[in-house]
Amino acid sequence: MSTQPPEQRDPADHPERIDLRTLVKMARASEPFACLACYDATTAKLCERAGVHLLLAGDSAAQVVLGFERTLDMPLDFAIQITAALRRGAPSRCIMADMPFLSYHAEETEALKNAGRFLTEGMADIVKLEADASFAPLVRAMTRAGIPVCAHVGLLPQAASITGYAARGRTAADARRIVDDAIALQDAGAAMLLVEAVPDETTEAILASTTVPLIGIGAGPACHGQILVVNDLLGMQDWKPRFVEPAADLAPEITRAASEWVRRVAARAPGGQRYRMHEGEPERLENPNKTRVTWEGVKPSPG
Ligand code: KIV
Repeated sequence: MSTQPPEQRDPADHPERIDLRTLVKMARASEPFACLACYDATTAKLCERAGVHLLLAGDSAAQVVLGFERTLDMPLDFAIQITAALRRGAPSRCIMADMPFLSYHAEETEALKNAGRFLTEGMADIVKLEADASFAPLVRAMTRAGIPVCAHVGLLPQAASITGYAARGRTAADARRIVDDAIALQDAGAAMLLVEAVPDETTEAILASTTVPLIGIGAGPACHGQILVVNDLLGMQDWKPRFVEPAADLAPEITRAASEWVRRVAARAPGGQRYRMHEGEPERLENPNKTRVTWEGVKPSPG
């Protein structure tokens, strides 16, 4: 049997379930919650162990995992797969799925079916859409179908080919437009909001006009939750946005370890434990070159 007996399980690996209601309670109690965009079960498990509350299967995977230049290239099936991977890796955490470009823009029925797949196949708690007020009818339809929605406002990377990547809400008029988007999307049923790349004043104006939990990325400290891309937090990227302060410096460490592997392979010293044949078996093993493989190396076969 390979299952650990319950009494020997590490309580850190079975933390309390964090769901949307937990995050609403935390927001109301002014207790900030931590979120990270990540893409695989192993990282999700470590984030769960660290106490991160929410994990986003971000469409930034198109860039950091698949190597595309834009998030527009995120494939829908891959997005669903990584969402399910986060759930398997971190079963107790709130899992948010990021709906990719064109998976919710063309037809309402298609959008509902795609969002439903994130909840069933992807086992997500909530789906995230990059949206302005014009998406309010879609958010209403999803909410009516029982699909919790997080509406992403401010800088919308999926629209960057039209709008660019510059910060938003830096003029009173633009800040007002973002606040109006947030209000319209909340009124349509959005259970959560996420705002990207805006000044603190814009964030505070959203907070003053809405009641659902607000997650921020590059949006100042006042948000209920904060999110970053895990690769940025770990210092794995060559370029980082101005709001990122890495908490580790893994890029040189990974490069150092990979160089060490290159060196070991060249030296025929891969390291680790080797397998041994059963007693007496090496002598019985003859290969076509008439050599014998022994623990010490290759010897000519006797006779
Ligand atoms: O895809 C992503 O990583 C995001 C960010 C908001 C973290 O949407």
